[in-house]
Amino acid sequence: MDKACSDGHDDGFVGVFDSGLGGISVLRCLTAELPHEDFVFFGDSAHNPYGDKSNEQILGYSRSIVEDMVAEGAKAIVIACNTATSVAAATLRAERPDLPILGVEPALKPATEHDPHRRILVMATPVTLKLDKFHRLAEEYGSDSEVIAVPCVGLAHRIEQGELEAPDLHELLVDLVGQYRDKVDSVVLGCTHYPFVVRQIREVLGDVPFFDGGEGTARHLHEVLREHGLLTCSMGEGSVTFRSSLNEPGVLDRYQRFFDMEL
Ligand code: DGL
Repeated sequence: MDKACSDGHDDGFVGVFDSGLGGISVLRCLTAELPHEDFVFFGDSAHNPYGDKSNEQILGYSRSIVEDMVAEGAKAIVIACNTATSVAAATLRAERPDLPILGVEPALKPATEHDPHRRILVMATPVTLKLDKFHRLAEEYGSDSEVIAVPCVGLAHRIEQGELEAPDLHELLVDLVGQYRDKVDSVVLGCTHYPFVVRQIREVLGDVPFFDGGEGTARHLHEVLREHGLLTCSMGEGSVTFRSSLNEPGVLDRYQRFFDMEL
């Protein structure tokens, strides 16, 4: 993070956060798109899941994470959480107009651009699906599709615990979306935890295309850093640092395992 350029200025890092390890699915796309940048990932696993918290709580957690990251030298922030983006991104941007703050949103647009797109299943947390932001997205892109929004209560928290092959996770997925097997044209993963169980979801739903916001967010971050003159001047390999609010042994190792996981 102290990567100084030839003119001596410090490049700063990109701060990425989520309610836990889900945002690592976005981080993987960010590091692939911007391999020379330094990233600090903060998982707020002590407060996971955000999906059953109040808007005030989610805004409070997000604000304090951003404050800490800025104090440590973040040049841009990626809210790698659909739930926190829906609740907090607009307020945080208004509070810090000089700081690029990017968010993620359910990838409805690419799903509607893919054929066929008659019936699109959107899996997300109850908070994400309740808020106006999602309804606006669905209105904007979903007019010639039937958008079936499924609040996946408990799923992000279950993924957060690891053990992705356990039978109870399969049963939870069957309960949540089993009825849509062979009945939808595509699936939008509207929570950054879900890409880690795409194979398990496919077992339940059948072989349909999946869309998530990770790659789009990475391209967007690249553009924003370029526009603001914030791209690193280093050509060396960037660093990735993991931090967590959960002070338990093994948490950072689990983050690293998810970062390296083959999907
Ligand atoms: N990973 C998050 C999201 O994208 C939040 C899940 C949760 O904490 O409920 O929505």
